[in-house]
Amino acid sequence: MKTIIEPFRIKSVEPIRFTTREQRKALLEQVHFNLFALKSADVIIDLLTDSGTSAMSAEQWAAVMRGDESYAGSPSFLRFEEAVRNLMDFKHIIPTHQGRAAEAILFSLIGGEGKHIPSNTHFDTTRGNIEGTGALAHDLVIREGTDPQDLHPFKGNMDLERLEAFLAEHGNAVPCVMTTITNNAGGGQPVSLENIRETARIAHQHGVPFIIDGCRFAENAWFIKQREPGQSDRPIEAIVRDMFSVADGMTMSAKKDAFANIGGWLALNDDDLAQRARTRLIQTEGFPTYGGLSGRDLDAIAQGLSEIVDEDYLRYRVRTNEYIVDRLDKMGVPVVKPAGGHAVFVDARAWLDHIRPLSYPGQALAVALYEIGGIRTCEIGTVMFGRHPDGSETPAAMDLVRLAMPRRAYTQSHADYIVEVFEEIVATRDRLQGYRIVEEPPMMRHFTAKFAPLAG
Ligand code: F0G
Repeated sequence: MKTIIEPFRIKSVEPIRFTTREQRKALLEQVHFNLFALKSADVIIDLLTDSGTSAMSAEQWAAVMRGDESYAGSPSFLRFEEAVRNLMDFKHIIPTHQGRAAEAILFSLIGGEGKHIPSNTHFDTTRGNIEGTGALAHDLVIREGTDPQDLHPFKGNMDLERLEAFLAEHGNAVPCVMTTITNNAGGGQPVSLENIRETARIAHQHGVPFIIDGCRFAENAWFIKQREPGQSDRPIEAIVRDMFSVADGMTMSAKKDAFANIGGWLALNDDDLAQRARTRLIQTEGFPTYGGLSGRDLDAIAQGLSEIVDEDYLRYRVRTNEYIVDRLDKMGVPVVKPAGGHAVFVDARAWLDHIRPLSYPGQALAVALYEIGGIRTCEIGTVMFGRHPDGSETPAAMDLVRLAMPRRAYTQSHADYIVEVFEEIVATRDRLQGYRIVEEPPMMRHFTAKFAPLAG
């Protein structure tokens, strides 16, 4: 059949509370046009993030009941460890309460002043945890990865020539080379198996360990299966194992491709580094067989990992984004192409070209999506990246709006509704106005800044 249906039926539902446009206008005033300050009950479709927002399966809820809360040596930990090792065969698997906790532990041990850490593109918490130690984070994605319209099949790939040159220049000051799969900050774009292998080979040639930020590993494997020569007949599990087999470690947020609402891990092969990581874990997260999680969370992750590699799920998952991207593209809305794994990214700067970057076109679009349709999205542009530590402000590289899709939470009619809200904005685009910031904290301003509309 041509129709790709949701590969699940619904057993437990959460009601969506509807609001009127007038109510949403008033709410926007109340929160000073910052969507992070909205109550989620006032949101009709919440696309703020795909992190921790997955619908858990009946089997995951059953696993939650099996959770064993023993402080040490819980069977939940053993099930978690076995499920991770089945896909990512690292020697040491260290649970953490979420991805950034794994990053914080790793970089507290290998970061520091004078160090340089390259990646295709660091996610902002990864960058924050690296820079917090005094080290510098560098993004070396291929040129095609920063062009929203380029149709390269693996726009998350590392630029291998730049990596070679980088390692030649910084040599001993590089404690690890990273790759983020999929490349969230670059539009949810995948990295090919060949590129992962070559990145590992180059790192190892220079004696540098290779670490994967594996948050969306299953989506990445699906793209490899679809797009990389010679991979189409291989099971997803085999592709996943290949991706991680060349790495020396990984950081993971189980809030993404483990279908869990909380959790993460740090995995390593180096015995000495793992020993130091566990000591740090005990200091900051908890004993190494629970690491900041309850036993029930560990069981939910273990079960989630067996479900995320299901091809019917992955086909439906990626198809949802492709469907919305195709429809928006046909309407003339500039979108990042090809569609990413976990989100649709709209190029607000290109679309709302009457709003200059320092008047935040991404924020203008995000506010309009909420006012018109009650859809909450996230600006990834000048609001997020425009303010610098020295106090200056410059436009970010792009002004995007991310529509991140919670896993298994919304259906086809929700996707059609999203498209319809965009149709309305297409008709009124010229009337959208920019914003100015009236109050902002010294850093990470997007979470708490207050905005005011510029007078038309
Ligand atoms: N790495 C990547 C690629 C991520 O996307 C995230 C989180 C993290 C690390 C950190 O994991 O949230 O468990 O601490 N991304 C979320 C997002 C917040 O909305 O993209 P965490």
